[in-house]
Amino acid sequence: MNDTIAIFASARRNGNTGKFIDWIGNELDISIIDLSEKNISPYDYEHNNLNDDFVPLMNQLLDYKKIIFVTPIYWYASSAQMKIFIDRIADLLYLEELKDIGRRLRKKTGYVVCTSTSNEANQSFMNTFKDTFEYLGMNYGGHVHANCENGYSPNKYIEDVNKFVKLVKLVKCKDISPAA
Ligand SMILES: Cc1cc2nc3c(=O)[nH]c(=O)nc-3n(C[C@H](O)[C@H](O)[C@H](O)COP(=O)(O)O)c2cc1C
Repeated sequence: MNDTIAIFASARRNGNTGKFIDWIGNELDISIIDLSEKNISPYDYEHNNLNDDFVPLMNQLLDYKKIIFVTPIYWYASSAQMKIFIDRIADLLYLEELKDIGRRLRKKTGYVVCTSTSNEANQSFMNTFKDTFEYLGMNYGGHVHANCENGYSPNKYIEDVNKFVKLVKLVKCKDISPAA
């Protein structure tokens, strides 16, 4: 089984970010989960939403050692759907019955694939992922970004994508079992 999976969240499936991750996903031969197909509701302090798709999705992701977070940059941040998903990880930290799932995120490697209309992914955007990975005990593996200011132009990113794909393939998480 491939050890990598991508979770994708954009306001449109076949926009810039969707096309970018389809290319990268094809190179890596991985599955791409579209968060818009999942019923994941915003964080609830009362935890009345535990029967939605969040916990089953987390269990699915935990079968993989490397998780690629894929989002366009909207207002210097991730898409709303990605933010909702990340907020829900708090359930895994606060609820006794879910803490085990949270612990299993440790030692996973997280990556970011993103698009925007700027030359680079802004630092505050990248830091939300890096800091979140660190808090969860995950490793940050790297990111790749496409500037789509003049539309989606894959030719400009061949080198960056090759580098990113190599980077993802290079990381061997030998120290953990698939379920760890
Ligand atoms: C609501 C919204 C907010 C955006 N905010 C930013 C931003 O803060 N910085 C930036 O460079 N581009 C921004 N953009 C441009 C998108 O990041 C860019 O067009 C991206 O490639 C869109 O990906 P998509 O087709 O998957 O939605 C924004 C676009 C939208 C629709």
